[in-house]
Amino acid sequence: TQVAFFEETDSTNNEIRRLAEQGAPHGTLAVAERQLGGKGRRGRVWTSPAGVGIWMSMLLRPQIDPMAASMLTLVMALSTRRGIEKATGLKSEIKWPNDLVLNKKKICGILTEMSTELMEIQYVIPGTGINVNQMEFPDDIKATATSLRIESGKIQKRSEIIAAIMEAFEGYYDTFIETQDMSGLIEEYNANLVNLGNEVCVLDPAGEYRGVSEGINKEGALLVRLSDGTLKEIISGEVSVR
Ligand code: BTN
Repeated sequence: TQVAFFEETDSTNNEIRRLAEQGAPHGTLAVAERQLGGKGRRGRVWTSPAGVGIWMSMLLRPQIDPMAASMLTLVMALSTRRGIEKATGLKSEIKWPNDLVLNKKKICGILTEMSTELMEIQYVIPGTGINVNQMEFPDDIKATATSLRIESGKIQKRSEIIAAIMEAFEGYYDTFIETQDMSGLIEEYNANLVNLGNEVCVLDPAGEYRGVSEGINKEGALLVRLSDGTLKEIISGEVSVR
């Protein structure tokens, strides 16, 4: 793996996009000490101060159906969860689709961007942000964010966590590519899902649903059992812990 390190950048997702356009190979990784324009999902800002977090993006050039590409975000979430556990012993849980939480507070978010041309994937960029050694957070996210240091009481080594995530990713990625869906990974994904079997509130483009989370299916959609007994497949959206 080629690793591009940046002391400061707008966003590692943008760095990977630039490298991809110059022909960089599958597996290239961009890591930054600090991001000035860190991007979150839904146009939100991702606060990325110097020295305390892992702000990294990967370049993938998978030969798969563009429709399957969003599942790579789930593959990355699984890899990040496993890597964090290997390197720190902390057992985080997945909040569908791709956040990681510890004690119900967010430690990791993933923003995946991709480029397609004539229905073919040019590249996919999963960008991962992990709160590692912060001791405090800005007011607007104070109540919902935490760090590996806060939860473990120890300073954690970012390089070891990155290495463990990359190692885990290799295995999960190969499993995913074999079937080009989540069938080989569902079990592990659902075993680490934060709200499995609990009442959740889900927002998707069509509206807001309340029901019991039954985990993901092989397409990566979240299955929610509504109070009338029907099973709703949520393809994209946000789940809140209630
Ligand atoms: C979210 O939970 O909203 C997703 C956050 C993703 C943040 C990471 S940090 C590395 C990469 N570069 C970015 O600008 N965003 C992602």
